[in-house]
Amino acid sequence: MSDFDYESRIVSIPDYPEKGVIFKDITPLFADPDGLVHLVDDIADHFLGRGITKVVGAEARGFLVGAPVAYKLGAGFVPARKPGKLPREVYSQSYSLEYGTDELQIHKDALSPDDVVLIVDDLVATGGTAAATAKLVEQSGARIEGFSFILELTFLNPRDVIAKEYPDREVYTLIPVK
Ligand code: PRP
Ligand code: MG
Repeated sequence: MSDFDYESRIVSIPDYPEKGVIFKDITPLFADPDGLVHLVDDIADHFLGRGITKVVGAEARGFLVGAPVAYKLGAGFVPARKPGKLPREVYSQSYSLEYGTDELQIHKDALSPDDVVLIVDDLVATGGTAAATAKLVEQSGARIEGFSFILELTFLNPRDVIAKEYPDREVYTLIPVK
């Protein structure tokens, strides 16, 4: 991994979207041409040579990370979308949020059992979104090679959530947040 100063390009906003939460705004990192190059290169270079054929990212911020990483890996990109957005047959997976539930979907023909998948997102917090994305990949029969995130809220222990279902898959993050 490069020694790029990611943290100076991420802005912490206290009490957003609700009191007690510190929101990590990654938009300045993506807006910085150097920041974009480094984050894409650092993730893609780490997983180069591991046979990844598809990168899967969850709507919406997972798209920002996933498509350029896929391009750099010479892989395809598959969006996991919120319900009702994909026009053909889908696999669906619901997951828990702090309040209520949400759902993600992928097209049934987007992945095949021959695919080797890297799951990406901007941030892993509880691990719920990543685990739901992984379950969609599993429904298609594809193999999950690993997970990668820009930010990991380590105090919420998302690695434990991922490791429970996917114990031997690598979780690679650029910035651990304590
Ligand atoms: C955020 C973030 C991750 C997810 C992480 O997405 O982009 O996808 O939360 O949280 P978790 O590990 O607890 O699941 P959000 O659902 O806010 O939607 P967005 O990407 O559309 O902004
Ligand atoms: Mg998201």
